[in-house]
Amino acid sequence: MGFDPQAFRQQFPILATQNRFGKPLVYLDNAATTQVPEGVIQAIDTHFRRQNANIHRSVYDLGTQSELMYESTRQAVADYIHAASVEEIIFNSGATEGLNWIASQFTHLTPEDEILVTIQDHHSNILPWQRLSATVRFIGMTPEGDFDEDDFQKKLSSRTKIVSIAQYHNVLGTVNPIQRIAQAAHQVGALCVVDGAQALLHGPIDVQEMDCDFWVTSAHKAYGPTGIGFLYGKSSLLNNCQPLRFGGGIVERVFTDRPAIFRSIPERFEAGTPNIIGVAGLRASIQFLNNLDWDSLQKYLQQLQHELLERLLPEVQVLCPNNHRIPIIAWVQSDVHPHDCASILDSEGIAVRAGHQCAYPLMQHLGITGCTRVSLAPYNTREDIDHLVQGLKKIHKILGRKS
Ligand code: ALA
Repeated sequence: MGFDPQAFRQQFPILATQNRFGKPLVYLDNAATTQVPEGVIQAIDTHFRRQNANIHRSVYDLGTQSELMYESTRQAVADYIHAASVEEIIFNSGATEGLNWIASQFTHLTPEDEILVTIQDHHSNILPWQRLSATVRFIGMTPEGDFDEDDFQKKLSSRTKIVSIAQYHNVLGTVNPIQRIAQAAHQVGALCVVDGAQALLHGPIDVQEMDCDFWVTSAHKAYGPTGIGFLYGKSSLLNNCQPLRFGGGIVERVFTDRPAIFRSIPERFEAGTPNIIGVAGLRASIQFLNNLDWDSLQKYLQQLQHELLERLLPEVQVLCPNNHRIPIIAWVQSDVHPHDCASILDSEGIAVRAGHQCAYPLMQHLGITGCTRVSLAPYNTREDIDHLVQGLKKIHKILGRKS
């Protein structure tokens, strides 16, 4: 049976709301954050009502239940992304924290060492590396907007210690060949770090198949709550990593006269009371993802994206319309500032993102200061595209060149 967007949509209460002008919500900013289905909302509610207690330190039934929920979510996440073992999953606040944490393991690098990122990467996958002493180099993109394999081969060398790249980019939706990149990185003895922030929403994840060394993501980019995410790392690497935060829950013993004895992974990296309620929401969002019929859902989204591209093209100048992409589409309009575009669309109930999209190097590369971006989720419909196109026509009428 095909994908039914209306039935899917009904699981998201916020999509039935209206803005302050009485316009129905047309939510097209899913790369920033997705909306949350009833099942995830209920799981959070149920945890607070029936299960709320601290974990790893409570010797009573409620604490045991809470801990069981927390640790079985770690297993569910490991299964979902096909990690080799549950200890390879570290809960954190999301992809940004994950990338900062990974970078913190490489303070020993020197300016002779190189870290490769791409010109399309999000600031979160640039700034943590630029804080290190190593030299950060940028792999370019093809004129179509795809990963430039020739430039990658030119820049990859024995000096390369890390190749860090988004699985899918957040502005042009570019799909990167992670398996090939990881393989090439390993051939020169470098590690491959993957920013999976945009990936959870768009298909099943298999970290062993990608053969990346680290992979990070945020729950709120795929139907979960904000403030929770996780990091995957190969256990052989994690075993040699150091905690970034120190506190309760990460040690076996602390002494007055000698170094503490740390717990093994993953507890060693989760100091203090973790975001237990976030994990309850993450658990429900992973269950939600597990129940999706990905084939029909992806077909539906491809069709919708195709239609969106066709209908946008006469109205606006789409950036790199021919790259390999997930349904994220950005554009510029010669007479209209992106913020004006987004503000007028907002008055019509349409939520899009405008600005540099946390990807300033890409903006510079494209010779622009910002753009407007639409990012689709499976609850978006043809009617949403109709609204968007109508909104763009209105903008053109108000702000377009009058000559
Ligand atoms: N990374 C998010 C985005 O691209 C915030 O909008």
